[in-house]
Amino acid sequence: MAIIIVSGSVGTGKTTLSKKISKTLNYEYLDVSKLIKDKKLADDYDTENKCAIVDVKKLNKVLIEIIKKSENLIIDSHLSHYLPKKYVDFCIVTTCDITILRDRLKKRNYSANKIKNNIEAEIFDTIVIEAKDKKYNLLVVNTSEGYKLKDIVEFIK
Ligand SMILES: Nc1ncnc2c1ncn2[C@@H]1O[C@H](COP(=O)(O)OP(=O)(O)OP(=O)(O)O)[C@@H](O)[C@H]1O
Ligand SMILES: [Mg+2]
Repeated sequence: MAIIIVSGSVGTGKTTLSKKISKTLNYEYLDVSKLIKDKKLADDYDTENKCAIVDVKKLNKVLIEIIKKSENLIIDSHLSHYLPKKYVDFCIVTTCDITILRDRLKKRNYSANKIKNNIEAEIFDTIVIEAKDKKYNLLVVNTSEGYKLKDIVEFIK
């Protein structure tokens, strides 16, 4: 049994990588954005960044219930690394070079401000630092450098 969380700044490649791992290892895939909508876990809406504001405590409660019922699961979310360490076997944080990330975010037609805020989060390595603090079994994957899925699968084993 393994619970894998995939976190990282917006647009760094969490979903792409999570789905690849899920397909390769036949793990269940959990789309947390969908879960937040389905379970109405958003408390508020950030009009500047056009995204939901989520109470992480509430989200963790729901995630822990799902984890308890799961065998092999991949949790795809930039909020997944707030889960307590004891529920997480492996944590993968996706990162991306800034110029490439800016292009990815521009393609999504995000506002200049939303792009700036998300680029800043990546420049400051915010999520990598937070995940390190949690002392997870951590792998950082730079998705703009062309990773090998084989290496990631090796890490999970
Ligand atoms: N390894 C990769 N090589 C090239 N492009 C990639 C790679 N991974 C992701 N991308 C591209 O980057 C963009 C963002 O990827 P993805 O949706 O997986 O990111 P995300 O972290 O899940 O984003 P969000 O935070 O919005 O959920 C997509 O256009 C995707 O095709
Ligand atoms: Mg995603």
